[in-house]
Amino acid sequence: MNYRHGYHAGNFADVLKHAVLTCIAARLARVAKPVLAIDMHAGAGLYDLQAPNALKTGEWREGIGRVMAAPQAPEVLKPYIDIVKRANPGGEIRYYPGSPLILRDTLRPTDKIALYEMRPEDAQALAQLTKPDKRIKARRADGWKAIVAEIRSPDVRPLVLIDPPFESDADFDRSLDAVSAARTRSDTACVMVWHPIKDEKPVAAFRDKVKRGTSDALMTVELAVAPPAKGEKLTASGLLILRPPRGLNEDLHAMLPWLKEKLAVADGASAEWRWLIAPR
Ligand SMILES: C[S@@+](CC[C@H](N)C(=O)[O-])C[C@H]1O[C@@H](n2cnc3c(N)ncnc32)[C@H](O)[C@@H]1O
Repeated sequence: MNYRHGYHAGNFADVLKHAVLTCIAARLARVAKPVLAIDMHAGAGLYDLQAPNALKTGEWREGIGRVMAAPQAPEVLKPYIDIVKRANPGGEIRYYPGSPLILRDTLRPTDKIALYEMRPEDAQALAQLTKPDKRIKARRADGWKAIVAEIRSPDVRPLVLIDPPFESDADFDRSLDAVSAARTRSDTACVMVWHPIKDEKPVAAFRDKVKRGTSDALMTVELAVAPPAKGEKLTASGLLILRPPRGLNEDLHAMLPWLKEKLAVADGASAEWRWLIAPR
């Protein structure tokens, strides 16, 4: 386990993931049933953008840095931007909130949040950060076991975030298993998987396998800030969303063209979202 999210926090891929997660959580927080959010790979929760790892890559500057510097963001992004602002009471952008804080700041007092993180330092920081909030349980535990451990009652609406490091393509297979576990344990679980797009092949195979396993609504979202690059540099990432809440399609329509324009680093940037299975 070499991956450290601190190098990448607030980059274009985080912006996409967190902007969409905010919309999903906000929409689910309007349904009657309490939401049970399960963040299977939660990270540290809050990242110092002046820490050596963040400074080394500077990725956030072309991600959240650009979003916060833009004069007028679409209304649909306001709740996400407000969460980033709340993490920076001094005004200047120094800290970036991860998925646990997006969930904390968007869900209701009656909702619950289960956070899983394996890396000891990050798990400890996360536990410390979220301790005052009684809705949140943060564990140093294997996120791949979270679905079976957490989804035990039909009286909640699960929101599952699958956001592994993708140090290898094996995370596509693990994510596939996790989507299918969530689907079989709950008829209503909304599941969002973040994935890198470096090579189209494993991405297409993953989407196809998830699609073959379900007849429920399934959507893909992609944001490329440049054409595919040779080597390790990430230029595109995507989300696969099973059972997206009603209205998310309109949110994406309102945010993605703007995000593409603001986050592009080269000609050939693109933003796309489409149904793999349209809602019935
Ligand atoms: C992409 S980062 C998560 C970022 C976080 N979800 C966010 O959006 O702010 C992936 C995280 O998964 C953690 N991780 C790796 N394997 C894990 C496992 N089996 N269970 C739980 N966490 C794991 C890594 O330590 C890393 O912090």
